[in-house]
Amino acid sequence: MISLLQDEPAPNQALYTYLYLAATVLFIWGIKRLGKVKTARSGNQLAAVGMLIATVTAIAETQKVSWTLIAVGLILGTLIGAVLARRVAMTAMPELVAAFNGLGGAASMFVGLAFLAVNVRSEGNATAGMTMSQLVTVPLSILIGGATLTGSGVAYLKLSGKKIVHPFSGASRHGVHAVLAILLVLSGLWMSTLAESAPQVAMAAMVIVAISCLLGVFLVMPIGGADMPVVVALLNSYSGLAAAASGFVIGNLLLVVSGALVGASGLILTQIMCKAMNRSLGNVLLGGIGDDSVAKDARDYTGIKETSPEEVAMLLDAASSIIIVPGYGLAVAQAQHVTRELGQELEKRGKQVRYAIHPVAGRMPGHMNVLLAEADVPYDRLFELERINGDFVNTDLVLILGANDVVNPAAREDKTSPIYGMPILDVDYARTVVMVKRSLSPGYAGIKNPLFEKDNTLMVFLDAKEAIQAFVTEVKEL
Ligand code: TAP
Repeated sequence: MISLLQDEPAPNQALYTYLYLAATVLFIWGIKRLGKVKTARSGNQLAAVGMLIATVTAIAETQKVSWTLIAVGLILGTLIGAVLARRVAMTAMPELVAAFNGLGGAASMFVGLAFLAVNVRSEGNATAGMTMSQLVTVPLSILIGGATLTGSGVAYLKLSGKKIVHPFSGASRHGVHAVLAILLVLSGLWMSTLAESAPQVAMAAMVIVAISCLLGVFLVMPIGGADMPVVVALLNSYSGLAAAASGFVIGNLLLVVSGALVGASGLILTQIMCKAMNRSLGNVLLGGIGDDSVAKDARDYTGIKETSPEEVAMLLDAASSIIIVPGYGLAVAQAQHVTRELGQELEKRGKQVRYAIHPVAGRMPGHMNVLLAEADVPYDRLFELERINGDFVNTDLVLILGANDVVNPAAREDKTSPIYGMPILDVDYARTVVMVKRSLSPGYAGIKNPLFEKDNTLMVFLDAKEAIQAFVTEVKEL
Protein backbone atom coordinates (compact mmCIF):
# COMPACT_ATOMS: atom_id res chain seq x y z
CA MET A 1 0.00 0.00 0.00
CA ILE A 2 1.38 3.41 -0.88
CA SER A 3 2.07 5.13 2.39
CA LEU A 4 0.83 8.72 2.54
CA LEU A 5 4.01 9.63 4.40
CA GLN A 6 6.59 8.13 2.12
CA ASP A 7 8.05 9.98 -0.82
CA GLU A 8 9.50 6.82 -2.28
CA PRO A 9 7.78 3.45 -2.43
CA ALA A 10 9.23 0.92 0.04
CA PRO A 11 10.79 -2.29 -1.31
CA ASN A 12 8.16 -5.02 -1.88
CA GLN A 13 5.52 -2.28 -2.11
CA ALA A 14 3.47 -4.21 -4.70
CA LEU A 15 3.41 -7.28 -2.43
CA TYR A 16 2.25 -5.20 0.57
CA THR A 17 -0.48 -3.62 -1.55
CA TYR A 18 -1.80 -7.06 -2.60
CA LEU A 19 -1.71 -8.29 1.00
CA TYR A 20 -3.64 -5.24 2.24
CA LEU A 21 -6.13 -5.77 -0.56
CA ALA A 22 -6.54 -9.43 0.47
CA ALA A 23 -7.11 -8.33 4.10
CA THR A 24 -9.74 -5.77 2.98
CA VAL A 25 -11.58 -8.43 0.94
CA LEU A 26 -11.50 -10.82 3.94
CA PHE A 27 -12.93 -8.11 6.26
CA ILE A 28 -15.82 -7.36 3.89
CA TRP A 29 -16.47 -11.04 3.15
CA GLY A 30 -16.36 -11.78 6.90
CA ILE A 31 -18.91 -9.04 7.68
CA LYS A 32 -21.18 -10.37 4.94
CA ARG A 33 -21.08 -13.88 6.43
CA LEU A 34 -21.83 -12.49 9.91
CA GLY A 35 -25.28 -11.57 8.56
CA LYS A 36 -26.57 -15.17 8.85
CA VAL A 37 -26.38 -17.44 11.90
CA LYS A 38 -25.25 -20.43 9.85
CA THR A 39 -22.28 -18.61 8.31
CA ALA A 40 -21.44 -16.28 11.22
CA ARG A 41 -18.71 -18.49 12.73
CA SER A 42 -16.80 -18.77 9.46
CA GLY A 43 -17.35 -15.02 8.89
CA ASN A 44 -15.61 -14.33 12.18
CA GLN A 45 -12.74 -16.63 11.24
CA LEU A 46 -12.30 -15.01 7.81
CA ALA A 47 -12.11 -11.54 9.37
CA ALA A 48 -9.60 -12.83 11.95
CA VAL A 49 -7.37 -14.18 9.14
CA GLY A 50 -7.71 -10.76 7.44
CA MET A 51 -6.58 -9.06 10.64
CA LEU A 52 -3.57 -11.39 10.96
CA ILE A 53 -2.52 -10.63 7.37
CA ALA A 54 -3.03 -6.88 7.96
CA THR A 55 -0.99 -6.86 11.18
CA VAL A 56 1.93 -8.90 9.82
CA THR A 57 2.01 -6.78 6.63
CA ALA A 58 1.92 -3.49 8.58
CA ILE A 59 4.82 -4.68 10.77
CA ALA A 60 6.84 -5.88 7.77
CA GLU A 61 6.18 -2.63 5.89
CA THR A 62 7.33 -0.49 8.83
CA GLN A 63 10.70 -2.29 8.73
CA LYS A 64 12.23 -0.55 11.76
CA VAL A 65 10.51 -2.49 14.51
CA SER A 66 11.45 -3.94 17.87
CA TRP A 67 10.59 -7.64 17.57
CA THR A 68 10.94 -8.06 21.33
CA LEU A 69 8.26 -5.41 21.97
CA ILE A 70 6.00 -6.99 19.35
CA ALA A 71 6.45 -10.45 20.88
CA VAL A 72 5.68 -9.12 24.38
CA GLY A 73 2.57 -7.33 23.05
CA LEU A 74 1.41 -10.44 21.17
CA ILE A 75 1.84 -12.76 24.14
CA LEU A 76 0.16 -10.34 26.58
CA GLY A 77 -2.70 -9.61 24.16
CA THR A 78 -3.30 -13.30 23.45
CA LEU A 79 -3.31 -14.16 27.15
CA ILE A 80 -5.73 -11.34 28.07
CA GLY A 81 -7.99 -12.20 25.09
CA ALA A 82 -8.07 -15.92 25.94
CA VAL A 83 -8.86 -15.30 29.62
CA LEU A 84 -11.60 -12.77 28.77
CA ALA A 85 -13.17 -15.06 26.16
CA ARG A 86 -13.41 -17.87 28.73
CA ARG A 87 -14.38 -15.85 31.78
CA VAL A 88 -16.78 -13.16 30.58
CA ALA A 89 -20.41 -14.29 30.77
CA MET A 90 -22.63 -13.79 27.74
CA THR A 91 -24.72 -11.31 29.76
CA ALA A 92 -21.62 -9.17 30.37
CA MET A 93 -20.76 -8.99 26.66
CA PRO A 94 -22.01 -5.38 26.24
CA GLU A 95 -19.58 -4.29 29.01
CA LEU A 96 -16.74 -6.09 27.23
CA VAL A 97 -17.62 -4.46 23.91
CA ALA A 98 -17.74 -1.06 25.69
CA ALA A 99 -14.24 -1.72 27.07
CA PHE A 100 -12.97 -2.73 23.61
CA ASN A 101 -14.42 0.44 22.07
CA GLY A 102 -12.74 2.55 24.75
CA LEU A 103 -9.38 0.90 24.09
CA GLY A 104 -9.86 1.43 20.33
CA GLY A 105 -10.52 5.12 20.98
CA ALA A 106 -7.46 5.34 23.26
CA ALA A 107 -5.27 3.72 20.57
CA SER A 108 -6.36 6.31 17.98
CA MET A 109 -5.79 9.15 20.43
CA PHE A 110 -2.25 7.90 21.18
CA VAL A 111 -1.51 7.46 17.45
CA GLY A 112 -2.39 11.15 16.97
CA LEU A 113 -0.28 12.23 19.96
CA ALA A 114 2.68 10.01 18.99
CA PHE A 115 2.56 11.39 15.46
CA LEU A 116 2.83 14.92 16.86
CA ALA A 117 5.68 13.91 19.17
CA VAL A 118 7.69 12.61 16.20
CA ASN A 119 6.75 15.11 13.50
CA VAL A 120 6.40 18.52 15.13
CA ARG A 121 9.50 20.62 14.44
CA SER A 122 11.27 22.28 17.32
CA GLU A 123 12.54 25.08 15.08
CA GLY A 124 10.66 27.32 12.66
CA ASN A 125 6.98 26.60 11.91
CA ALA A 126 6.19 23.63 14.17
CA THR A 127 3.62 21.99 11.85
CA ALA A 128 5.34 22.83 8.54
CA GLY A 129 6.19 19.16 7.90
CA MET A 130 2.56 18.03 8.11
CA THR A 131 0.27 17.67 5.10
CA MET A 132 -3.15 19.34 4.97
CA SER A 133 -4.78 15.93 5.54
CA GLN A 134 -2.69 15.39 8.69
CA LEU A 135 -3.45 18.88 10.01
CA VAL A 136 -7.13 17.92 9.90
CA THR A 137 -6.98 14.27 10.96
CA VAL A 138 -4.47 14.53 13.85
CA PRO A 139 -6.78 16.69 16.02
CA LEU A 140 -9.76 14.59 14.84
CA SER A 141 -8.16 11.30 15.89
CA ILE A 142 -7.22 12.78 19.27
CA LEU A 143 -10.64 14.25 19.96
CA ILE A 144 -12.82 11.38 18.69
CA GLY A 145 -10.46 8.89 20.36
CA GLY A 146 -10.51 10.77 23.70
CA ALA A 147 -14.30 11.14 23.76
CA THR A 148 -14.73 7.46 22.80
CA LEU A 149 -12.34 6.38 25.57
CA THR A 150 -14.08 8.17 28.43
CA GLY A 151 -17.61 7.80 26.99
CA SER A 152 -17.06 4.03 26.80
CA GLY A 153 -15.74 4.07 30.38
CA VAL A 154 -18.98 5.65 31.60
CA ALA A 155 -21.03 3.20 29.46
CA TYR A 156 -19.07 0.31 31.02
CA LEU A 157 -19.81 1.52 34.55
CA LYS A 158 -23.50 2.13 33.78
CA LEU A 159 -23.84 -1.33 32.24
CA SER A 160 -22.31 -2.78 35.40
CA GLY A 161 -25.13 -1.13 37.35
CA LYS A 162 -23.28 1.92 38.73
CA LYS A 163 -25.39 5.03 39.14
CA ILE A 164 -23.65 8.04 37.61
CA VAL A 165 -25.40 11.42 37.66
CA HIS A 166 -24.60 14.38 35.41
CA PRO A 167 -23.59 17.44 37.47
CA PHE A 168 -25.72 19.72 35.25
CA SER A 169 -29.38 19.27 34.40
CA GLY A 170 -31.84 20.51 31.76
CA ALA A 171 -30.87 23.35 29.44
CA SER A 172 -27.67 24.17 31.38
CA ARG A 173 -26.38 20.67 30.54
CA HIS A 174 -26.85 21.24 26.79
CA GLY A 175 -25.25 24.68 27.17
CA VAL A 176 -22.17 23.16 28.86
CA HIS A 177 -21.90 20.52 26.10
CA ALA A 178 -22.16 23.21 23.40
CA VAL A 179 -19.44 25.35 25.05
CA LEU A 180 -17.12 22.31 25.31
CA ALA A 181 -17.76 21.43 21.63
CA ILE A 182 -16.94 25.02 20.56
CA LEU A 183 -13.77 24.98 22.69
CA LEU A 184 -12.78 21.71 21.02
CA VAL A 185 -13.16 23.16 17.52
CA LEU A 186 -11.19 26.26 18.55
CA SER A 187 -8.34 24.23 20.09
CA GLY A 188 -8.22 22.06 16.95
CA LEU A 189 -7.88 25.19 14.83
CA TRP A 190 -5.27 26.58 17.23
CA MET A 191 -3.22 23.38 16.97
CA SER A 192 -3.39 23.11 13.20
CA THR A 193 -3.20 26.70 12.04
CA LEU A 194 -2.09 29.12 14.75
CA ALA A 195 0.38 27.28 16.99
CA GLU A 196 3.87 28.23 15.91
CA SER A 197 6.21 26.48 18.31
CA ALA A 198 6.40 22.88 19.47
CA PRO A 199 5.34 23.75 23.07
CA GLN A 200 2.25 25.55 21.71
CA VAL A 201 1.28 22.51 19.63
CA ALA A 202 1.80 20.27 22.66
CA MET A 203 -0.32 22.60 24.80
CA ALA A 204 -3.13 22.63 22.19
CA ALA A 205 -3.02 18.83 21.96
CA MET A 206 -3.29 18.50 25.75
CA VAL A 207 -6.26 20.91 25.79
CA ILE A 208 -7.96 18.78 23.10
CA VAL A 209 -7.30 15.61 25.15
CA ALA A 210 -8.73 17.20 28.32
CA ILE A 211 -11.87 18.67 26.71
CA SER A 212 -12.67 15.63 24.58
CA CYS A 213 -12.31 13.30 27.58
CA LEU A 214 -14.62 15.55 29.62
CA LEU A 215 -17.13 15.77 26.76
CA GLY A 216 -17.14 11.96 26.38
CA VAL A 217 -18.05 11.58 30.06
CA PHE A 218 -20.69 14.35 29.98
CA LEU A 219 -22.38 13.07 26.80
CA VAL A 220 -22.91 9.53 28.10
CA MET A 221 -23.75 10.47 31.72
CA PRO A 222 -27.40 11.53 31.19
CA ILE A 223 -28.31 8.49 29.06
CA GLY A 224 -30.32 5.81 30.87
CA GLY A 225 -28.94 2.35 31.62
CA ALA A 226 -31.58 0.74 29.38
CA ASP A 227 -30.24 2.70 26.42
CA MET A 228 -26.60 1.81 27.06
CA PRO A 229 -26.46 -0.97 24.40
CA VAL A 230 -27.46 1.64 21.79
CA VAL A 231 -24.77 3.98 23.11
CA VAL A 232 -22.22 1.15 22.96
CA ALA A 233 -23.09 0.57 19.28
CA LEU A 234 -22.70 4.31 18.64
CA LEU A 235 -19.36 4.43 20.49
CA ASN A 236 -18.29 1.45 18.40
CA SER A 237 -19.00 3.58 15.36
CA TYR A 238 -16.97 6.46 16.87
CA SER A 239 -14.02 4.16 17.57
CA GLY A 240 -14.15 3.23 13.84
CA LEU A 241 -14.14 6.91 12.84
CA ALA A 242 -11.20 7.58 15.18
CA ALA A 243 -9.32 4.62 13.65
CA ALA A 244 -10.06 5.89 10.12
CA ALA A 245 -8.73 9.34 11.11
CA SER A 246 -5.55 7.79 12.55
CA GLY A 247 -5.23 5.78 9.32
CA PHE A 248 -4.93 9.11 7.47
CA VAL A 249 -2.47 10.34 10.10
CA ILE A 250 0.00 7.48 9.68
CA GLY A 251 -0.75 6.97 6.01
CA ASN A 252 -2.15 3.45 6.29
CA LEU A 253 -5.08 3.12 3.92
CA LEU A 254 -6.08 -0.28 5.33
CA LEU A 255 -6.67 1.41 8.70
CA VAL A 256 -8.80 4.00 6.88
CA VAL A 257 -10.85 1.23 5.21
CA SER A 258 -11.28 -0.91 8.34
CA GLY A 259 -12.08 2.18 10.46
CA ALA A 260 -14.72 3.20 7.91
CA LEU A 261 -16.18 -0.35 7.98
CA VAL A 262 -16.46 -0.25 11.79
CA GLY A 263 -17.83 3.32 11.67
CA ALA A 264 -20.53 2.42 9.14
CA SER A 265 -21.54 -0.92 10.68
CA GLY A 266 -21.74 0.64 14.17
CA LEU A 267 -24.02 3.33 12.82
CA ILE A 268 -26.26 0.80 11.02
CA LEU A 269 -26.51 -1.27 14.22
CA THR A 270 -27.40 1.87 16.21
CA GLN A 271 -30.20 2.60 13.74
CA ILE A 272 -31.53 -0.98 13.85
CA MET A 273 -31.65 -0.88 17.66
CA CYS A 274 -33.39 2.51 17.74
CA LYS A 275 -35.95 1.25 15.22
CA ALA A 276 -36.63 -1.88 17.30
CA MET A 277 -37.40 0.37 20.30
CA ASN A 278 -39.34 2.86 18.16
CA ARG A 279 -37.06 5.69 19.33
CA SER A 280 -35.05 8.28 17.47
CA LEU A 281 -31.32 8.47 18.05
CA GLY A 282 -31.77 12.06 19.27
CA ASN A 283 -34.28 10.86 21.88
CA VAL A 284 -31.82 8.19 23.10
CA LEU A 285 -28.90 10.63 23.26
CA LEU A 286 -30.82 13.33 25.09
CA GLY A 287 -31.58 10.82 27.85
CA GLY A 288 -35.01 9.23 27.63
CA ILE A 289 -36.11 5.92 29.09
CA GLY A 290 -34.50 4.11 31.93
CA ASP A 291 -32.53 6.90 33.54
CA ASP A 292 -31.58 4.17 36.01
CA SER A 293 -34.73 4.82 38.04
CA VAL A 294 -37.62 2.47 38.79
CA ALA A 295 -41.18 3.79 38.41
CA LYS A 296 -43.02 4.28 41.74
CA ASP A 297 -45.82 1.86 40.77
CA ALA A 298 -43.45 -0.72 39.22
CA ARG A 299 -44.24 -3.33 41.90
CA ASP A 300 -47.90 -2.38 42.65
CA TYR A 301 -49.96 -5.30 41.39
CA THR A 302 -53.37 -6.70 42.29
CA GLY A 303 -54.99 -10.00 41.34
CA ILE A 304 -51.77 -11.85 40.50
CA LYS A 305 -52.39 -15.56 39.84
CA GLU A 306 -49.50 -17.80 40.82
CA THR A 307 -49.13 -21.34 39.56
CA SER A 308 -46.86 -24.37 40.06
CA PRO A 309 -44.67 -26.46 37.71
CA GLU A 310 -47.15 -29.39 38.03
CA GLU A 311 -50.00 -27.20 36.82
CA VAL A 312 -47.87 -25.76 34.00
CA ALA A 313 -47.01 -29.32 32.88
CA MET A 314 -50.70 -30.12 32.66
CA LEU A 315 -51.38 -26.95 30.65
CA LEU A 316 -48.49 -27.85 28.31
CA ASP A 317 -49.90 -31.34 27.92
CA ALA A 318 -53.30 -29.96 26.96
CA ALA A 319 -51.90 -27.37 24.49
CA SER A 320 -51.24 -28.18 20.86
CA SER A 321 -49.51 -24.92 19.87
CA ILE A 322 -46.89 -23.42 22.16
CA ILE A 323 -44.73 -20.34 21.71
CA ILE A 324 -41.69 -19.87 23.95
CA VAL A 325 -40.56 -16.26 24.52
CA PRO A 326 -36.99 -16.04 25.80
CA GLY A 327 -35.70 -12.88 27.50
CA TYR A 328 -32.82 -11.52 29.52
CA GLY A 329 -33.69 -13.73 32.55
CA LEU A 330 -33.15 -16.89 30.45
CA ALA A 331 -29.61 -15.70 29.73
CA VAL A 332 -29.00 -14.86 33.41
CA ALA A 333 -30.20 -18.32 34.46
CA GLN A 334 -28.22 -19.98 31.63
CA ALA A 335 -31.33 -22.04 30.98
CA GLN A 336 -30.93 -22.39 27.21
CA HIS A 337 -29.99 -26.12 27.25
CA VAL A 338 -32.87 -27.15 29.49
CA THR A 339 -35.20 -24.99 27.34
CA ARG A 340 -34.19 -27.01 24.27
CA GLU A 341 -34.82 -30.21 26.26
CA LEU A 342 -38.32 -28.99 27.16
CA GLY A 343 -38.96 -28.08 23.50
CA GLN A 344 -37.88 -31.56 22.38
CA GLU A 345 -40.04 -33.28 25.00
CA LEU A 346 -43.07 -31.29 23.86
CA GLU A 347 -42.39 -31.96 20.18
CA LYS A 348 -42.12 -35.70 20.93
CA ARG A 349 -45.68 -35.40 22.24
CA GLY A 350 -46.85 -33.91 18.92
CA LYS A 351 -46.98 -30.24 19.97
CA GLN A 352 -46.04 -27.38 17.68
CA VAL A 353 -43.23 -25.53 19.49
CA ARG A 354 -41.89 -22.20 18.23
CA TYR A 355 -39.63 -19.54 19.72
CA ALA A 356 -40.53 -15.83 19.36
CA ILE A 357 -37.49 -13.56 19.16
CA HIS A 358 -37.80 -9.87 19.95
CA PRO A 359 -35.01 -7.78 18.39
CA VAL A 360 -34.04 -6.15 21.72
CA ALA A 361 -34.71 -9.08 24.07
CA GLY A 362 -31.70 -9.56 26.33
CA ARG A 363 -28.93 -7.01 26.46
CA MET A 364 -27.33 -7.03 23.01
CA PRO A 365 -28.39 -7.46 19.40
CA GLY A 366 -28.98 -11.10 18.53
CA HIS A 367 -28.63 -12.11 22.20
CA MET A 368 -31.48 -14.65 22.12
CA ASN A 369 -30.42 -16.07 18.74
CA VAL A 370 -26.90 -16.66 20.04
CA LEU A 371 -28.17 -18.16 23.30
CA LEU A 372 -30.54 -20.62 21.63
CA ALA A 373 -28.06 -21.47 18.86
CA GLU A 374 -25.56 -22.37 21.62
CA ALA A 375 -28.09 -24.96 22.84
CA ASP A 376 -28.65 -26.27 19.28
CA VAL A 377 -32.27 -25.17 19.10
CA PRO A 378 -33.06 -25.70 15.39
CA TYR A 379 -32.88 -22.34 13.63
CA ASP A 380 -36.12 -22.92 11.72
CA ARG A 381 -38.04 -22.88 15.04
CA LEU A 382 -36.94 -19.29 15.72
CA PHE A 383 -39.35 -16.58 14.52
CA GLU A 384 -38.70 -12.85 14.43
CA LEU A 385 -41.35 -10.49 15.86
CA GLU A 386 -42.92 -9.57 12.50
CA ARG A 387 -43.23 -13.22 11.44
CA ILE A 388 -44.91 -14.50 14.61
CA ASN A 389 -46.88 -11.58 16.06
CA GLY A 390 -50.02 -12.41 14.08
CA ASP A 391 -49.98 -16.02 15.36
CA PHE A 392 -50.35 -15.40 19.12
CA VAL A 393 -54.11 -15.07 18.75
CA ASN A 394 -54.27 -18.72 17.56
CA THR A 395 -51.83 -20.06 20.13
CA ASP A 396 -52.84 -22.21 23.10
CA LEU A 397 -49.99 -21.38 25.43
CA VAL A 398 -47.19 -18.84 25.58
CA LEU A 399 -44.29 -19.60 27.90
CA ILE A 400 -42.35 -16.45 28.79
CA LEU A 401 -38.94 -17.28 30.16
CA GLY A 402 -37.28 -14.28 31.84
CA ALA A 403 -38.65 -11.69 29.39
CA ASN A 404 -40.48 -8.63 30.63
CA ASP A 405 -40.25 -5.31 28.74
CA VAL A 406 -40.50 -6.99 25.32
CA VAL A 407 -43.95 -8.39 26.22
CA ASN A 408 -45.27 -5.33 28.09
CA PRO A 409 -48.68 -4.39 26.61
CA ALA A 410 -48.23 -0.83 27.99
CA ALA A 411 -46.08 -0.22 24.91
CA ARG A 412 -49.23 -0.77 22.84
CA GLU A 413 -51.95 0.58 25.12
CA ASP A 414 -50.62 3.27 27.47
CA LYS A 415 -49.75 6.54 25.75
CA THR A 416 -48.09 7.82 28.93
CA SER A 417 -45.73 4.83 29.18
CA PRO A 418 -42.05 5.60 28.50
CA ILE A 419 -41.97 2.58 26.17
CA TYR A 420 -45.17 3.55 24.30
CA GLY A 421 -44.73 2.79 20.60
CA MET A 422 -42.01 0.16 21.03
CA PRO A 423 -43.05 -2.93 19.02
CA ILE A 424 -43.75 -5.78 21.47
CA LEU A 425 -44.60 -9.47 21.18
CA ASP A 426 -48.41 -9.61 21.48
CA VAL A 427 -48.35 -12.55 23.91
CA ASP A 428 -51.49 -11.43 25.75
CA TYR A 429 -53.57 -12.38 22.68
CA ALA A 430 -52.82 -16.08 23.30
CA ARG A 431 -55.25 -18.31 25.22
CA THR A 432 -52.95 -18.79 28.22
CA VAL A 433 -49.76 -16.99 29.19
CA VAL A 434 -47.29 -18.52 31.67
CA MET A 435 -44.66 -16.10 32.86
CA VAL A 436 -41.53 -17.39 34.57
CA LYS A 437 -39.52 -14.92 36.64
CA ARG A 438 -38.30 -14.77 40.20
CA SER A 439 -40.41 -11.91 41.53
CA LEU A 440 -42.59 -8.94 40.55
CA SER A 441 -39.47 -6.88 39.81
CA PRO A 442 -39.54 -4.78 36.66
CA GLY A 443 -37.34 -5.31 33.61
CA TYR A 444 -34.58 -3.00 32.42
CA ALA A 445 -36.98 -0.11 31.61
CA GLY A 446 -37.96 -0.06 35.32
CA ILE A 447 -41.71 0.09 34.70
CA LYS A 448 -44.84 -1.84 35.68
CA ASN A 449 -46.01 -4.61 33.34
CA PRO A 450 -49.84 -4.87 33.19
CA LEU A 451 -49.47 -8.32 31.59
CA PHE A 452 -48.93 -9.80 35.08
CA GLU A 453 -52.49 -8.80 36.06
CA LYS A 454 -54.28 -10.01 32.90
CA ASP A 455 -56.93 -12.71 33.32
CA ASN A 456 -55.11 -15.19 31.08
CA THR A 457 -51.69 -14.75 32.75
CA LEU A 458 -50.27 -17.19 35.30
CA MET A 459 -47.02 -16.45 37.12
CA VAL A 460 -44.32 -18.94 38.16
CA PHE A 461 -41.99 -17.24 40.63
CA LEU A 462 -38.82 -19.28 40.20
CA ASP A 463 -35.36 -19.01 38.65
CA ALA A 464 -35.83 -19.82 34.94
CA LYS A 465 -33.50 -22.86 34.96
CA GLU A 466 -35.10 -24.29 38.09
CA ALA A 467 -38.60 -23.78 36.69
CA ILE A 468 -37.89 -25.28 33.26
CA GLN A 469 -36.13 -28.27 34.81
CA ALA A 470 -39.24 -28.83 36.93
CA PHE A 471 -41.47 -28.51 33.81
CA VAL A 472 -39.36 -31.17 32.03
CA THR A 473 -39.60 -33.55 34.99
CA GLU A 474 -43.35 -33.05 35.35
CA VAL A 475 -44.02 -33.38 31.59
CA LYS A 476 -42.06 -36.65 31.51
CA GLU A 477 -44.14 -38.00 34.39
CA LEU A 478 -47.48 -37.32 32.68
P1 TAP B 1 -36.11 -7.32 30.81
O1 TAP B 1 -37.27 -6.48 30.47
O2 TAP B 1 -34.86 -6.65 31.21
O3 TAP B 1 -36.61 -8.33 31.94
C1 TAP B 1 -35.87 -9.42 32.32
C2 TAP B 1 -36.61 -10.11 33.45
O4 TAP B 1 -35.89 -11.31 33.72
C3 TAP B 1 -36.64 -9.32 34.73
O5 TAP B 1 -37.91 -8.76 34.94
C4 TAP B 1 -36.24 -10.33 35.81
O6 TAP B 1 -37.28 -10.44 36.78
C5 TAP B 1 -36.12 -11.65 35.05
N1 TAP B 1 -35.00 -12.47 35.51
C6 TAP B 1 -33.75 -12.09 35.80
N2 TAP B 1 -33.02 -13.13 36.19
C7 TAP B 1 -33.82 -14.21 36.12
C8 TAP B 1 -33.63 -15.59 36.39
N3 TAP B 1 -32.48 -16.07 36.84
N4 TAP B 1 -34.68 -16.43 36.20
C9 TAP B 1 -35.87 -15.95 35.78
N5 TAP B 1 -36.11 -14.66 35.52
C10 TAP B 1 -35.09 -13.79 35.68
O7 TAP B 1 -35.72 -8.29 29.61
P2 TAP B 1 -36.28 -8.37 28.13
O8 TAP B 1 -37.74 -8.59 28.13
O9 TAP B 1 -35.39 -9.35 27.44
O10 TAP B 1 -36.06 -6.91 27.56
C11 TAP B 1 -34.78 -6.37 27.29
C12 TAP B 1 -34.66 -4.92 27.77
O11 TAP B 1 -33.33 -4.42 27.49
C13 TAP B 1 -35.62 -3.99 27.07
O12 TAP B 1 -36.00 -2.95 27.94
C14 TAP B 1 -34.78 -3.43 25.94
O13 TAP B 1 -35.25 -2.19 25.44
C15 TAP B 1 -33.46 -3.26 26.66
N6 TAP B 1 -32.43 -3.14 25.64
C16 TAP B 1 -32.01 -4.23 24.98
C17 TAP B 1 -31.15 -4.07 23.94
C18 TAP B 1 -30.73 -5.25 23.14
S1 TAP B 1 -29.93 -4.95 21.82
N7 TAP B 1 -31.05 -6.46 23.49
C19 TAP B 1 -30.69 -2.81 23.56
C20 TAP B 1 -31.14 -1.71 24.27
C21 TAP B 1 -32.01 -1.89 25.31
P3 TAP B 1 -36.99 -11.02 38.25
O14 TAP B 1 -35.89 -10.19 38.82
O15 TAP B 1 -38.29 -10.88 38.96
O16 TAP B 1 -36.59 -12.45 38.07
